[in-house]
Amino acid sequence: MKKEDKKIILAFETSCDDTSIAIFEDDKLLFMDTASQIKIHNITGGVVPEVAAREHANAIFGVLENVLTETNLKLENIDYIGVTTSPGLLPSLLTGTTVASTISTVLQIPIIPINHIQAHVFSNFLERKEEDIKFPLICLTVSGGHNDIYSMKDIWDLEKVGSTTDDSSGEAFDKVAKMMGLEYPGGPIISKLAESHPQPIPCKEGSKPLFPRVWLVKKEADFSFSGLKSAVKREVDKRTNRGEKELTLEDKIEISYEFQEAVIEVLAYKLVQVALQNGVKNVMLAGGVSANNRLKEEITRLAKKNNLEFIFPVSNLYCMDNAAMVGILTYYKIKYGEFEKKIGVVKL
Ligand code: KG4
Ligand code: ZN
Repeated sequence: MKKEDKKIILAFETSCDDTSIAIFEDDKLLFMDTASQIKIHNITGGVVPEVAAREHANAIFGVLENVLTETNLKLENIDYIGVTTSPGLLPSLLTGTTVASTISTVLQIPIIPINHIQAHVFSNFLERKEEDIKFPLICLTVSGGHNDIYSMKDIWDLEKVGSTTDDSSGEAFDKVAKMMGLEYPGGPIISKLAESHPQPIPCKEGSKPLFPRVWLVKKEADFSFSGLKSAVKREVDKRTNRGEKELTLEDKIEISYEFQEAVIEVLAYKLVQVALQNGVKNVMLAGGVSANNRLKEEITRLAKKNNLEFIFPVSNLYCMDNAAMVGILTYYKIKYGEFEKKIGVVKL
């Protein structure tokens, strides 16, 4: 049952291929349920927007019913709604915003539009005290859809200082996995294969890496992963004789390991570099790729070496797309009055 002085928040995230809904009591996550579309997208070899939207529509009311049942709450108990409105796949976003707007209209509940990337950043506030996040900080957000570096001078002062000039790192993981005949999403599969590589991690000094590191020296906070992707394609073609034979398990392990090292070395270095250049002592990580253990290990190593404090989401559950990050950002927006009071339809 609802406690009188606490705000109950209903949060929706449907920007890509996860139908996720969470209920919060202030900053405390009461329950979250997420319907994943991975099985379907494995058949289509990636996310097809129309397929994703249909799956969201099929799943969303079941997920909503689950979170209400598990928290023993009714829609009438909800004080605020938070919903992802951008960026994302339009047909997918529409499912979440339509359901959220309908509830807001019918029950006259205030609705707060949420930016997906900002929500990823705020996933770091989950299960933490507000004062545990120290400003100013530099945050690397790495996902399938984005690959950015943000400077955060204060809780509401978020400025993009770097981005990818082509693919995101998550997209590179997914495309490289596809080249090797692995399933979607590629990140978790590649990192698992890489872990079984016999070479000590990190690479022995002096040993030549298989793939290039793209530093973009002039635009130090920017990234590029398309050249790396092409280099992996050439290596796969070479080892399979242009598709005439299959890659062996050893090939897959070695390519996964070498590719992952090439990605994480650049990500970790640039995050720390931007912090040092700006005299900032705190670095943070967010987004699906932040579930990667090697990435966290490498940033931890570099941060320690440079006397920086490094934080990342307390659970991998909060790294991938999820409604908990939407709920916690909604909570802080309410707490700080960082929203326009609106009831009804949120526009995309
Ligand atoms: O944040 P997210 O769930 O969705 C987007 O906003 O895009 O991120 C999904 C991305 C996928 O590209 C997936 O391959 C990647 O995160 N990912 C990983 C790992 N787990 C998920 N990449 C590398 N290592 C992982 N362990
Ligand atoms: Zn995301």
